[in-house]
Amino acid sequence: MTQLSQFVSGMDESVTLAAAARAKALKAEGRDIIDLTLGQPDFVTPKAIQNAAVAAITDGKASFYTVSSGLPELKTAFAGYFERYYGYKPAANEILVTTGAKFALYAYFLAVLDPGDEVIIPAPYWVSYVDQVKMASGVPVIVETTQAADFKVTVDQLEAAKTARTKVLLLNSPSNPTGMIYSREELSAIGDWAVANDLEILADDIYHRLVYNGAAFTAISSLSDTIRTHTTVINGTSKTFAMTGWRIGIAVGSPEIIAAMGKISSQTTSNAAAASQYAAIQAFSGDDKDFHEMQQAFEERLNTIYPLLAEIPGFEVVKPQGAFYLFPKVTQALTATGYTNVTDFANALLEEANVATVTGEGFGSSENIRLSYATDLESLKTAVARIKKFVIEKSKH
Ligand SMILES: Cc1ncc(COP(=O)(O)O)c(C=O)c1O
Repeated sequence: MTQLSQFVSGMDESVTLAAAARAKALKAEGRDIIDLTLGQPDFVTPKAIQNAAVAAITDGKASFYTVSSGLPELKTAFAGYFERYYGYKPAANEILVTTGAKFALYAYFLAVLDPGDEVIIPAPYWVSYVDQVKMASGVPVIVETTQAADFKVTVDQLEAAKTARTKVLLLNSPSNPTGMIYSREELSAIGDWAVANDLEILADDIYHRLVYNGAAFTAISSLSDTIRTHTTVINGTSKTFAMTGWRIGIAVGSPEIIAAMGKISSQTTSNAAAASQYAAIQAFSGDDKDFHEMQQAFEERLNTIYPLLAEIPGFEVVKPQGAFYLFPKVTQALTATGYTNVTDFANALLEEANVATVTGEGFGSSENIRLSYATDLESLKTAVARIKKFVIEKSKH
């Protein structure tokens, strides 16, 4: 048998992708599964964006490698778009186009971490951060937040987690999986603390426009010039423009870090797919009509499904402000139904109630499960009704 590397042997597969694969397999067997594992909009990429890629293909422009750091026209379009939401305009050497935001994150860790350098990651966290930090020889330092504190980390907690090896503080707002958004005041306090301790801030802002019911996104990098010089922003087209399949991520940061990340992509991916980059130019320069329709659909689903979920006995849910996930705490439901952990509970929901969710374990929480509302309203209502029935019936035994 092939002896695999220690590097890969120590890695876990993404739990969300594994849960989605299991749901797909059961569906293929003919089971009536409602899949709430999905981390992607259930909308098709807007026509104008598709057409821009088609034109680039038929013109022949998409046939070739591009500049490794990204097409200059894409950087120009993105800089104008970014300024609308962040209030400052990055220069071309402060922007890197990557093969998805996921690769931008990995390139960042490879660019800034030496073996043993610590990255503070507030939990619950998006599944890939921890493994990516390890893959880059860094050490993830998890800081647990509580549902009572809306899953937000405080400066006191950060201070307690800091060591001489702390290099990076990672923030993800709006958050996957909690949907929480840090306020301007919270971010100012955290940003000032990071600057005072000379830490790098990694701001994963991929859900920045997916906010609902009047909630406002604040970019930590916009708060002051000093915070900005310490911050690298990760963004992309996947969530905002329903473009997960196109694989366009964008990093914005100091010329030094961007050039270092660019070295990593030049030696690995070369460039993000050319057709996707032409599509992204259109995404960043087009109108907002399709985005607003999608955002309204998400908001309606959230407002419909949140109260129904909160009614399930033993489910405690904080209403999310952004992204497209609900993250109920199910500990009381576990006790009532006789399950000892959230993973078994999520598996039973799949096997017995035909609803695919993701165990909180992959996000660093042993109390919650994650449901995505990136699916149609009728399916969502049916799924929640199935979960409720399952919990009530199991609780009787
Ligand atoms: C918080 C977060 N960051 C980054 C990503 C990666 O996005 P991309 O599709 O651009 O790789 C995701 C996707 O699920 C995400 O939820």
